[in-house]
Amino acid sequence: MEKTVVLIKPDGLQRGLVGQIMHRFERKGLKLVGVKMIQLNDEILDTWYVHHKEKPFFPELKKYMSWTPIVAMVWEGVEAIAAVRKIVGTTKGREAEAGSIRGDFGMSGQQNLIHASDSVESANKEISLMFKPDELFNYISAEDVLIYGEEERSL
Ligand code: CMP
Repeated sequence: MEKTVVLIKPDGLQRGLVGQIMHRFERKGLKLVGVKMIQLNDEILDTWYVHHKEKPFFPELKKYMSWTPIVAMVWEGVEAIAAVRKIVGTTKGREAEAGSIRGDFGMSGQQNLIHASDSVESANKEISLMFKPDELFNYISAEDVLIYGEEERSL
């Protein structure tokens, strides 16, 4: 099973969308294996967004992401990274598909409510930046037998 990191960004928290956003992943059949609130600082944001460091919007992005605490989560499932990105939708809320989180709740390209890992490498990096090993949980979900076939459960 894959693990993927989701952050509910400061605008998602301020707009009272935490419950609705988490519900989208729960109802899909993804398994929550870690969750906490965290205040992002310069150090973590410089590492997290290293690939955006030279972009003109980088200072603004850091200001936005450290505006309030964020909610960090790890969700698990078969091909969870791709499945979660579909639920999240494309970057700009005003262009994102209706039915996706960004498509349903947002208009902005910056204040786009949510982050999701884009690859196994990013997910591993983001998990180690955001969570200590004892903050992630390995447990059997009673729902697994309903959500997956037998072969899929061993992936
Ligand atoms: P995300 O795709 O999760 O990660 C990079 C973030 O940078 C993105 O969400 C937006 O929050 C922000 N971002 C991307 N493009 C722009 C832009 N052109 N102007 C401002 N912020 C942006």
